[in-house]
Amino acid sequence: MTDKLVTAEIEGAIGTITVRRPKSLNALNAAVVGQLFEAASGLVDDPAVRVVQITGEGDRAFVAGADITEFVGATPADAMAIALRIKKVTDLLTGCPKPVVAVVNGFCLGGGFELALACDIRIASSKALFGLPEIKLGILPGGGGTVRLTKVAGSSVARMLALTGDPIPAQRAYELGLVVSVHEPEELAAAARALADKLAALSPFALAQLKSSLTVAVDADIESACQAEIKAFALCYSTADQEEGARAFLEKRKPVFTGR
Ligand code: COA
Repeated sequence: MTDKLVTAEIEGAIGTITVRRPKSLNALNAAVVGQLFEAASGLVDDPAVRVVQITGEGDRAFVAGADITEFVGATPADAMAIALRIKKVTDLLTGCPKPVVAVVNGFCLGGGFELALACDIRIASSKALFGLPEIKLGILPGGGGTVRLTKVAGSSVARMLALTGDPIPAQRAYELGLVVSVHEPEELAAAARALADKLAALSPFALAQLKSSLTVAVDADIESACQAEIKAFALCYSTADQEEGARAFLEKRKPVFTGR
């Protein structure tokens, strides 16, 4: 047992961040968000870590949103501070050169959904629920929810979820392209592990360049994005991993990528 609100564990090349506040359905208070940033920074900076996973403790929640107890009596300045603290974490995840996977094991609401949307890939338990319920509290998402949901699933889906505040089940999230796969709750950890192992076996340099290209592709015009992709593609030819990838294919063996 640990009294930390967020832990970071490393197993081989896989770093796992777990939000551990199950009695409050892993809601994000200031301490949790601070520890989340520290945990994520440690894994981003650790060269031994090739893939980062984020999940929530227990069998009920990934993260059920920002901590609503902190909203009572809060001023606009307090609200700004809450939103900026979450932005620091989401910026870190989107800027991280390693793949980041949200392993969504339950309620994924508000700030929890915003956190998951800042990850590269989301996989979910069949029990997971996704939503932006802020409007039901008389506010709106402040952690990039309207922005990233629009980018990930389109304006129509974003409007439906944000304007009604109603959550959708994992299977519907899958149909809308919000998650890449849905698993029985008891099979989620194994599915996450298989995905992380697959990503960890790839060239970390190529993954970093790829992630950068994919990020540019979200916002830039086609010409600029294609130019950025060409540069990233060419840069891979400075690595031993590129040579290894081609040789391994021709020699009909599995490549061993070292990150050099
Ligand atoms: N902030 C603070 N506490 C929260 C929370 C949040 N976002 N979400 C859940 N909790 C707390 C509850 O207050 C409750 O605490 P208590 O046991 O001290 O009363 C505990 O977590 C369990 O939640 P509970 O509401 O009893 O569980 P439930 O199964 O009946 O409902 C939810 C689950 C997720 C539907 C419900 O908790 C909920 O709507 N949470 C808020 C979601 C939200 O609006 N998030 C966006 C915030 S901007």
